[in-house]
Amino acid sequence: MIESNHIAGRWVAGAGPAIIDVDPARNEPFAELTAASVEQVDAAVAAARDVAAQWRRFPAPRRAEILFRAAEIMTERKEALSIEVSREMGKVIDEGRGDVQESIDLAYFYAGEGRRLLGMTSPSESRHKLAYAVRAPIGVVAAISPFNFPFAIPALKALPALIAGNTVVLKPSSETPLMANRFVEIMQESGLPDGVLNIVHGPGESVGEALTHHPDVDLVSFTGSLSVGRGIAGHSAQEGKRLTFELGGKNCIIVLDDADLELTVRAVLWSAFGTTGQRCTSATRIIVQEGIHDEFVAALADAAEALQLGEGVDEATDVGPLVSQRAADKVAAVVEDAIESGGRAMTGGRRPDRPGAFYEPTILVDTPREARAEREEIFGPVTVIVKAVGLTEAINLANDTPYGLSAAIFTESMGSAFLAAEEVQTGLFYVNAGTIGAEAHLPSGGLKASGDGRREASVAALDAYSEWRTVYVDYSGRIQRAQIDFAAFEESDGNR
Ligand code: UN1
Repeated sequence: MIESNHIAGRWVAGAGPAIIDVDPARNEPFAELTAASVEQVDAAVAAARDVAAQWRRFPAPRRAEILFRAAEIMTERKEALSIEVSREMGKVIDEGRGDVQESIDLAYFYAGEGRRLLGMTSPSESRHKLAYAVRAPIGVVAAISPFNFPFAIPALKALPALIAGNTVVLKPSSETPLMANRFVEIMQESGLPDGVLNIVHGPGESVGEALTHHPDVDLVSFTGSLSVGRGIAGHSAQEGKRLTFELGGKNCIIVLDDADLELTVRAVLWSAFGTTGQRCTSATRIIVQEGIHDEFVAALADAAEALQLGEGVDEATDVGPLVSQRAADKVAAVVEDAIESGGRAMTGGRRPDRPGAFYEPTILVDTPREARAEREEIFGPVTVIVKAVGLTEAINLANDTPYGLSAAIFTESMGSAFLAAEEVQTGLFYVNAGTIGAEAHLPSGGLKASGDGRREASVAALDAYSEWRTVYVDYSGRIQRAQIDFAAFEESDGNR
């Protein structure tokens, strides 16, 4: 049993139940951790609260040095960390490296931000009066991270929160607790003071609930399902907590008749089956114009058939397992529903005959609009082909979902591309590239039900993790009433 929770600078065994961390490719235990008790959640929040004022007053450029060191350590250990990501979560090793690289990119980016954290200055409407606004931290952040980027998403949440001067309690998914611990270990090694970043493990129903309801938590940062997110949003409004949410998507790729076929096939394969379809940004609907439809679907099915399933750590593997057997069962249920309602699997549609949480890359056609596969976020290697007569219908189909995270178009027409970029209601949009792969220094997140209007990554995340404080300094020596007393030109020739 390892001491798996980090509270006030110490690693402590959880007083809650054991968490068996399973390698999904082998269906074997990979690590064993312990969940925190509710009392330990309280202790973690108290630790974060205790040092909040000290951390807030520690200059941001000094905070930044810690993040920079973390980036250096992650870079040194990249390969070892990547292998662990791949073993713990199942993603292929190249993507394990990408997961770690995303953390490195974020750490360097927010280290740089520590020397900026730009505010605003504006001329006042009055004479001899300075007006400026600075970003101030919010306080204690509860960061709840999902399994699909076990190393990158803890960083995506904690780093902007920390650089903005907040303290953090992280609760990662119990499917991938180890990599979140690795992240915390590196932050401590980099010199993060005790209590500034804590980690507690355990199920959402106990540990997550205790954390998100905690009166000393000021902001909840959550990535996960729409239903859990809506639950947290409901009680957080009552409790006066701030939020930043990423709640998934029903992402599509529009393929027009003039698309480059080979490029499009490669991009759709990557977007639909990369990370075994378990990204919030994975493409689960491919909206194809009639003229290219049959040729495209045949080429895509051939390419999907050729994908090699296997352990993520094997360099020859194209598609790894799902994160767990339970996740594979859910995917199987969505495909069964599609087949029962009249759909057809062009390829895949079943589990391969091997141990591990595998599901074959699946392309569905002829599914009715009400099938779960067309409506829900699938979170597995399954994508649905939808036919459209032209761009207008394709855009309407793209928007016919409550979600609005990511979308893409493949076309050689600049006009069609820009029109779709303008009309498809998503927070991320790609032209002649797939729906996945947002970069650290640009805003990431979704419109509509995919989020709460906040964004992750980039300077935009700082808006979620800080509040504006505006300061007016009047050195005129007079009462100057805003909106009432107007400075006159004639008075401008003296000092006062
Ligand atoms: C997620 O799956 O939670 O844009 C976010 C991408 C990645 C992360 C997606 N940077 O595909």
